[in-house]
Amino acid sequence: MTTQDTAQRPALRSQRLNQITHEPHSKLDALVKAHAPFETSANFARFVVAQYLFQSELVALYNDPELVALVGDLPARCRAEAAKADLADLDTEVPAPVAGAVNNPSKAEALGWLFVSEGSKLGAAFLIKRAVGLGLSETFGARHLGEPAGGRAQGWKTFVKTLDELELSADQEAELDKGAIDAFNRFTVLLEQAYATTPEPV
Ligand code: HEM
Repeated sequence: MTTQDTAQRPALRSQRLNQITHEPHSKLDALVKAHAPFETSANFARFVVAQYLFQSELVALYNDPELVALVGDLPARCRAEAAKADLADLDTEVPAPVAGAVNNPSKAEALGWLFVSEGSKLGAAFLIKRAVGLGLSETFGARHLGEPAGGRAQGWKTFVKTLDELELSADQEAELDKGAIDAFNRFTVLLEQAYATTPEPV
C-alpha cells in the first residue's frame, strides 16, 4: 500500500469495517425496531429465533482451530447455546435451519462474519435494557444479550485489536469486507424469516 492509499483509507481495518457496514447497520437497526420486539414477549421470541439461527450458523466459525489460534476465547464468545436457552425460556421451539448459511468461508471472510456477530454485542447493551420491560434478563429469556464474561467493552476491544493487528493481503482485506456485508445481509434474511413464520399477535 502506498502512502497515498493510506491517507485515503481509515487508519485501522476495524474503522474501515465500521464505515462500510454503517448503512447496513442502520437499515438492520430500523428493521429490528419495525418488528417492535419489545412490545410483547411473542414479538421478542421471534427476534430470539433470528438471533439463534444466526448464532447457530456461526458455531463452526467460533470453533474453527485456525480462528481460535487468533482469538483464544473465541469458542466461549459464541451465543448459540444462550439463544437456545432463551428460546426454551420463551416456550419457543428451536427453529429448523434456513437454507443459505455461510459455508466454509476463507479465514478473512470468517473474520468479517465474526466482526458483525461480536459487534452486535454492543447494541445488545441497549436491547437488554428494553427486554427487562418484558420481565426478561440475562438469566432468563434474554441470556444472549447479556454482558459477556470480562465485560462488553473489554471483549470488543480485544477482538478488534487482534483483528487490526493481523497481516492480511489485499485479497484478504476484500474477503473480510465481503464477510461483514454478507453477515448483515444474512441477519436481515433470518429476521424476516423469523417474523414470517409465526404471525405477530395484534
Ligand atoms: C447482526 C448484527 C447486528 C444487529 C442485529 C444489531 C442491532 C442493533 C440494534 C437494534 C441497535 C439499536 C439499539 C437501540 O437503539 O436500542 C444497535 C445499536 C448499536 N450497535 Fe448494532 N447490531 C449489529 C451489529 C453491530 C456491529 C457489527 C457493531 C459494531 C461494529 C454494532 C454496534 C452498535 C452500537 C455501538 C450500537 C449503539 C448505538 C448506535 O446505534 O451506534 N452493531 N445494534
